[in-house]
Amino acid sequence: MTGQRSTAQGGPAAWWRDAVIYQIYVRSFADGDGDGVGDLAGIRSRLPYLAGLGVDAVWITPWFDSPMADGGYDVADFRAIAPLFGTLAEAEALIGEAHDLGLRVILDIVPNHTSDRHRWFAAARDAGPGSPERARYWFRPGRGPGGEDPPNDWRSVFGGPAWTRLVGVDGAPEEWYLHLFAPEQPDLNWSHPQVRAEFESILRFWFDRGVDGFRVDVAHGLAKDPELPDLGAGPGGAPAPLVKPIEGEQGGGRDLAGRDLANHPHWDREEVHEVYRAWRRVADSYAPTPGGARMFVAEAWRVRPGGLARYLRADELDTAFNFDLARRPWRAGELRRGVQEHLAALRGVRATPTWVLSSHDLTRHVTRYGRTEGGVDVELGRRRARAAALLVLALPGSVYVYQGEELGLAEVEDLPEEALRDPMWRRSGGVLRGRDGCRVPLPWSAGGPALGFGAGAPWLPQPPEWAGLSVAVQDGDPDSTLRLYRSALRLRRSRPEFRRGELCWVDSPEGVLAFDRGAGLRCVVNLSPAPCPLPAGRRVLLSSGPVAAGVLPSDTAAWLAPAPAGDAPGGEPARL
Ligand code: NOJ
Repeated sequence: MTGQRSTAQGGPAAWWRDAVIYQIYVRSFADGDGDGVGDLAGIRSRLPYLAGLGVDAVWITPWFDSPMADGGYDVADFRAIAPLFGTLAEAEALIGEAHDLGLRVILDIVPNHTSDRHRWFAAARDAGPGSPERARYWFRPGRGPGGEDPPNDWRSVFGGPAWTRLVGVDGAPEEWYLHLFAPEQPDLNWSHPQVRAEFESILRFWFDRGVDGFRVDVAHGLAKDPELPDLGAGPGGAPAPLVKPIEGEQGGGRDLAGRDLANHPHWDREEVHEVYRAWRRVADSYAPTPGGARMFVAEAWRVRPGGLARYLRADELDTAFNFDLARRPWRAGELRRGVQEHLAALRGVRATPTWVLSSHDLTRHVTRYGRTEGGVDVELGRRRARAAALLVLALPGSVYVYQGEELGLAEVEDLPEEALRDPMWRRSGGVLRGRDGCRVPLPWSAGGPALGFGAGAPWLPQPPEWAGLSVAVQDGDPDSTLRLYRSALRLRRSRPEFRRGELCWVDSPEGVLAFDRGAGLRCVVNLSPAPCPLPAGRRVLLSSGPVAAGVLPSDTAAWLAPAPAGDAPGGEPARL
């Protein structure tokens, strides 16, 4: 459980330890060729925007060749770019251009499964039962007299059984294969040496092209109990409930069916750690770039209590997403507990904390924070989301910003059913609408066929009111959410307290969070319904909403610095 990172593995000052990393969901960021789907040309044209926003790195969701059954998380060829998105030459140019602008590039590796169109799966399908080609996946005969029942009772995260039965060329049903996600995403067998060697080679392929790191998709899911035992029904004999993945528990110690994660047959198994030790060796075989070695961030959200730290031992991955805050309601005690628990969970491994409010899998936090008994109050949600941004950006560690979060976008909850593309919608039999509502293409300008996203009709319709939230409109409004993020990121970069200051909680009234980062910075977040007085002797560096007469309104956050002697308490924030 312990381990001190050596300087060769990033060191205490590695770039990612306090980075702000912007998540680009390729399909929905910017469309360069006018086909209605975001692409690499679109990203390249907007890199100056990201540099101007002040983020340190971009994480690009899978851009590899894919039939797009799950938005690109079904990869057919890890060494090629999806033609829908562009070419390898464009990817190489993008990496170089990002670097020239001072932005690091993190790719999204998907090791748990391939697409069913991957050449390995095609070979496995053709080669038949018992073949070496099938050994790279999980093929098994069915149960029951005619093999008509799945080999075990595992459930797909997207709903339904985690097994699909193949049909032979003669139309006769034959073996089943395992897929913890969609049937188009067959799970790889990570006890197979070719699987391990192939992924190490893929890492090298992209490291050779200059990428600075990888997000590791489903990092906790790679290893399976080779006996493939039944899970057993959940508590009360209920099948696994259908929930949006990742809104399930993290560190709660149970899977979605309520089964204990200790010795679970497919989540968070010990064997995965050997994979990451090998990946660390691959990353460390490259000369460090200025600011640190290449990094890995784990997506591991269903692990045993305290389990995250095991992925972050000195010879494994560098950081892991912490989805805990994104699960918690807008209440001071809850958020404070979330911060403390995450910091405590990482003690002993010296890994850097991470903070996530939204992603391509989660309901946008403007909507989460705006839910009331009468529906979603978007203005309330946006006010809280702006305050939450100042909260997480003041915490020690790195922060992930999901595209559109800097515009204060809300979830689009009224997409027409015929527009929905998430496999969860179909797999749940129309019970869950899935994740499309947070994937609607970004508004860049107030007019045009797709609000500046591209020249063609966007793959998901944008709400007309997003014209007023577009980058162009917010750019010209000093009180906009975009300008707030820019100011916050500039301050975060310029003041050393954000990198070095210890987090120290400060006594505060009920419903108010207050902490110092060293002597030079205090963050105060008022989650109570009443205004709260700001401390004397400090001036406001930045606030998420208007602050007057030394009083912080409800659902507002402020960053404070010691005031020069003689200044009035609180005071107006400086314009940045
Ligand atoms: C997690 C990704 O974030 C999600 O979008 C995807 O559907 C699953 N992994 C499967 O790859």
